[in-house]
Amino acid sequence: MRYHDRKRILVTGGAGFLGSHLCERLIDLGHDVLCVDNFFTGTRENIAHLMPSSRFELIRHDVTFPLYVEVDEIYNLACPASPIHYQFDPVQTTKTSVHGAINMLGLAKRVKAKILQASTSEVYGDPREHPQTESYWGHVNPIGLRSCYDEGKRCAETLFYDYHRQHRLRIKVARIFNTYGPRMHPSDGRVVSNFIMQALKGEPLTIHGDGAQTRSFCYVDDLIGGLVSLMNSPEDFTGPVNLGNPGEFSVRELAEQIIALTGSASKLEFKERPSDDPTQRKPDITLAGKILGWGPTTNLHDGLRKTIIYFQGLLGS
Ligand SMILES: NC(=O)c1ccc[n+]([C@@H]2O[C@H](COP(=O)([O-])OP(=O)(O)OC[C@H]3O[C@@H](n4cnc5c(N)ncnc54)[C@H](O)[C@@H]3O)[C@@H](O)[C@H]2O)c1
Repeated sequence: MRYHDRKRILVTGGAGFLGSHLCERLIDLGHDVLCVDNFFTGTRENIAHLMPSSRFELIRHDVTFPLYVEVDEIYNLACPASPIHYQFDPVQTTKTSVHGAINMLGLAKRVKAKILQASTSEVYGDPREHPQTESYWGHVNPIGLRSCYDEGKRCAETLFYDYHRQHRLRIKVARIFNTYGPRMHPSDGRVVSNFIMQALKGEPLTIHGDGAQTRSFCYVDDLIGGLVSLMNSPEDFTGPVNLGNPGEFSVRELAEQIIALTGSASKLEFKERPSDDPTQRKPDITLAGKILGWGPTTNLHDGLRKTIIYFQGLLGS
């Protein structure tokens, strides 16, 4: 990489699942990466392999407090992403999304950095349109147990667009759909990690409801490619843009694939569905294809295989 193409890039939430893969990718691309994390759900193990690199730096910091650093680009990923983690301290979750966004946007404004927000398909809530396109405004409960996350992320999007309109900030907003892969937290209660851990331990796989609710699952390497393409997209393109895998699987199908791939003797166990659990989730990624030339390339079978190997390693150690 030529010297003037090399950027100083801040990744908030860089020690988390997606953040650690993003830091790795950006270093591989030749950039200098500053990872900021308060280790609420992220771990040192996720980034241990990056520590020896002279192009990687780590700061322990909570994004709800201001940060003063010199950078060219900011990827704002800091926020617990799984219901178990974001419902543990819902007030802190909203603060992380909202105050975190204000602090990072303030930083971007001061140092004239380009900034990308890791938003979520949860801004669509329990959608009445299927599949969801970016023009859909969503169907969100403002006072439910998931609201700290959903509404926090919606407010963060509002802040991004107001900073763009009011202060001409260069912004990018990605609406990320369910993503899975190595370095997911083993006890985050998300469906993929849950099922794999249960299958590997020979425990029953817990399905909420009858398992007919559908989800789309994007492999982490694909998603990271989408985030980097979005950051480098034409200046006048802000998004929001859906990033995910449109392949739709019922939760029951996922459980059955994981049992087959792990060779587990586990059975399925059906439990009551939690409130606000969406019945259908599938991204329309037409816009990402058109503007970014992006689409996922890893199929569920291959992605699950790599993820299972990672979890086997965790259990082994
Ligand atoms: N993984 C997915 O399927 C998915 C889907 C949609 C959106 N997202 C978004 O992508 C981002 C990353 O998600 P993930 O799956 O890697 O989750 P994660 O929980 O593994 O990572 C979040 C990281 O943010 C850090 N963090 C939390 N609060 C912080 C704070 N106040 N200050 C500094 N750091 C803080 C955590 O310690 C962790 O390292 C999140 O913003 C999430 O909302 C993820």
